[in-house]
Amino acid sequence: MDGIERESESGMAIWRNFSLRTKINVILFLVLVVFLGTRLFWQYRQQRTLLLAEATEKARIITVEATRTREYLSQQLKIGHVELNKDRYGMIPVVATNRIGQIVARDLNYTIRHTSIRTRNQANAPDSYEQAAIRRLAADRNLQHLTELTMLDGAPVLRYLQAVYVDESCLECHGDPWQSPPFLREIYPPETDPSYHYRAGDVIGAVSIVIPMDQIERQLSATFRSIFLTTSGFFVALVVCLGFLLQKTVLDPLHSLAAMIATIRKTGHFTERLPVPGQDEIGELVTGFNAMSEEIGAKAAQLEESEKRFRLLVEASRDAIVAFLPTGQLFLFNRQAEKIFGYSQRELLGESLDRLFVAEPAVYPEGLSSFISTAQESWLRDVHLLGGLRKDQSLVKVEMHVTVVDTGDRPFFTATLRESAPNSK
Ligand code: HEC
Repeated sequence: MDGIERESESGMAIWRNFSLRTKINVILFLVLVVFLGTRLFWQYRQQRTLLLAEATEKARIITVEATRTREYLSQQLKIGHVELNKDRYGMIPVVATNRIGQIVARDLNYTIRHTSIRTRNQANAPDSYEQAAIRRLAADRNLQHLTELTMLDGAPVLRYLQAVYVDESCLECHGDPWQSPPFLREIYPPETDPSYHYRAGDVIGAVSIVIPMDQIERQLSATFRSIFLTTSGFFVALVVCLGFLLQKTVLDPLHSLAAMIATIRKTGHFTERLPVPGQDEIGELVTGFNAMSEEIGAKAAQLEESEKRFRLLVEASRDAIVAFLPTGQLFLFNRQAEKIFGYSQRELLGESLDRLFVAEPAVYPEGLSSFISTAQESWLRDVHLLGGLRKDQSLVKVEMHVTVVDTGDRPFFTATLRESAPNSK
């Protein structure tokens, strides 16, 4: 849990460190992929559903046509009292329907046939797909037909099977064999033919239709390709335009803003102004930055001025003035002090106050500066006579008065010094 969280956090950190441009590109790319994927998937499903519905409808029409042909023929045979015999085999309604179907199929390249698991004519024997489908239709009487887009001999096809039920009229040739026409018993002896002994209502087999889909599928994939190209072209163009717009309106101004800020920071020229690109958000940012840099410039000038005045004041003093931190570190050393000690201010800034005085371990065991940092108020009130040490290591007697300057969190000390007897060594 913890590990995963940390991992996702570090992932977030990596993401945060990407440039704005990379982030925008990544987001646009993801949006592109998701949109395109969804659109194409949806389109594909819709097309396929439509295709299946259309092909199924076609198969249904063919089946109805065949069934009605069979019924019509059977009626006509009865009305005309046509007696069937070996020579009129082709006029048996089922046989005629199958043969007509075969002839038409040659023209239209679909196939239709009556098939049965208990096959009378081996030419009508079902393939394994048809066998399974007939079993399903026989098992579930609510199922009138089955339809599926599938493959046959490596080619895409629609398979459609409609259940065929036995009615009274069929029993003549599929019921009790001793009631059926003698010529039929001759061709299909009851001992070997499995297509007798049906009862009305039984599922005898199915009308099986195969519609080749390769042409339609090819059309579908062509449509799909063109949709893919136009849609992705559209999206890519959109993304490119968006990217360009972002580049021009956001990234470029931001970039020049950042560059300008960097230069100003480097040079300290707060007088420089950025050109305001417009009244939009970036414009507001630039205006705000300009105003801020103007204020900082003014403040810096003020600060410089007051510092200058302060420096002049300190330099103008007749006394030597040094200032130091509680650690003893010197940060101010005026010209009078330079005169007394022979050091220049530059040499002493950052150095310890202790360098300016003769060490007196008996009085200040830890050194003068650490003594001052913990000195009593009474000591601070008085002027003290101390042994100073010049740069050339000669001694100089100085009177020193120390004041604590309490600035709140970081107090410091100032000391005013005066040579006590300028001519004595
Ligand atoms: C006059 C006799 C006759 C009648 C009536 C008849 N059939 Fe048949 N049936 C046949 C013959 C003969 C075949 C063999 C077809 C062939 O050679 O293609 C056959 C074949 C079939 C087949 C194809 C499977 C196979 O075994 O070859 C089905 C399905 C079928 N009949 C269903 C029916 C149905 C349903 C009816 C009633 C609506 C019906 N038949 C009425 C004689 C008949």
